[in-house]
Amino acid sequence: MIKCDFDKYTSKFISNIDKSKFNKIEKKIAKEFLSGSLTYWNDINSFVSKDELNTIMNTANYVKENCDVFIIIGIGGSYMGSKAIMEALLPTFNKSKPEIIFLGTDLSSSYYKEVIDYIKDKEVIVNVISKSGNTLEPNIAFEVISYIMKGKYKKEELKDRIIITTDQKEGSLRKLANEEGYFTFNIPSNIGGRFSVFTPVGLFPLAVAGIDILTLLEGFMSASEYVSLAIDYAVTRETLYRKNKYVESFTVYNSKLYYFTEWLKQLFAETQGKSEKGILPISNINTRDLHSMGQFLQEGHDIIFETVIGIENSNVIKIVKYDKTLNEINRIAQEKVCLAHYRDKTPSLVIDIENLDEYNIGQLVRFFITAAIAGALLIDVNPFDQPGVEKYKELITEALNNTYIF
Ligand code: PA5
Repeated sequence: MIKCDFDKYTSKFISNIDKSKFNKIEKKIAKEFLSGSLTYWNDINSFVSKDELNTIMNTANYVKENCDVFIIIGIGGSYMGSKAIMEALLPTFNKSKPEIIFLGTDLSSSYYKEVIDYIKDKEVIVNVISKSGNTLEPNIAFEVISYIMKGKYKKEELKDRIIITTDQKEGSLRKLANEEGYFTFNIPSNIGGRFSVFTPVGLFPLAVAGIDILTLLEGFMSASEYVSLAIDYAVTRETLYRKNKYVESFTVYNSKLYYFTEWLKQLFAETQGKSEKGILPISNINTRDLHSMGQFLQEGHDIIFETVIGIENSNVIKIVKYDKTLNEINRIAQEKVCLAHYRDKTPSLVIDIENLDEYNIGQLVRFFITAAIAGALLIDVNPFDQPGVEKYKELITEALNNTYIF
């Protein structure tokens, strides 16, 4: 369950009158989700069909039994969501097999070298994820990994070890899969990268990782009840922005949500940061960052607001000195830091979930996706494109003259 408080730590900065300027457009956006062009968000079949879900789970079981290392190749929306959910929900130590490695998220030779050496004597299955099939980083990663795998496995066996997740019809990966007979999962054509974690893009890796994807989906779908709350959040952020709060810190009080904040940064930056508009997303992992960034949030330049994501319940670890559980102390820290920041210059929007589990994370993902789309519509930018990202790609491609050497 999601509980929000957008008033307590904002009320001296913005009023309901400020927010009411958005009433008309707010209603229009809500209508789009309820009965207009965005209703597909309420239909699970837009993301994954029942048959696909069965295939995902069966294939995940196959992967678990047939490799030591499962390599996920993808960048941006093609890996961020699953990475965030894995980090949030899997144990930090003693993770179950297979080991999961992400590749293709940068061009670091030293990391590549480590991966190449590490997988040398291990059984490997790879899932290459790219909607366009044309992205430089995953293409390079796939070239490297398939070169290694071709040295290890016969052509026929590669068909059981290379799994491609890509657009249903288009792109070079789709073409390759058709030519080589590789097993594929489809990415629905109307679901863009950063919105695709509940398509096979995220569901398949998450199932391999041992995460209960049915409960995740249940949470995700149930969050249609939070559409107006998410739009209210979008309106509150935008109202703060218009009071010169140009930067939003996604602040968490659990380091397992670190990658979730990375996913949030991607979601909001790519969805809203265009046409010289948008709020700059940053993150703080508290209480760690209170001892670094906390200084700026308390007394630095007056341009930041926080979206604080808290977790109500957690394991019971008693701290005798204070006669409280560790989580109770963490909750007190969250509350008092909001208060301290509010007293000076930084407002906070508070979003609490009940537990750190599949159901709540499913809800939270949907809540933020709805808010990001609504926020883009509020400022009249297209939520679903990312034209700026193409510009560096064009220059690199030009520099490489369409060839790269391994
Ligand atoms: O959100 C997005 O659309 C992007 O972040 C893409 O996911 C990212 O650029 C990777 O694209 P692709 O899946 O086509 O390789």
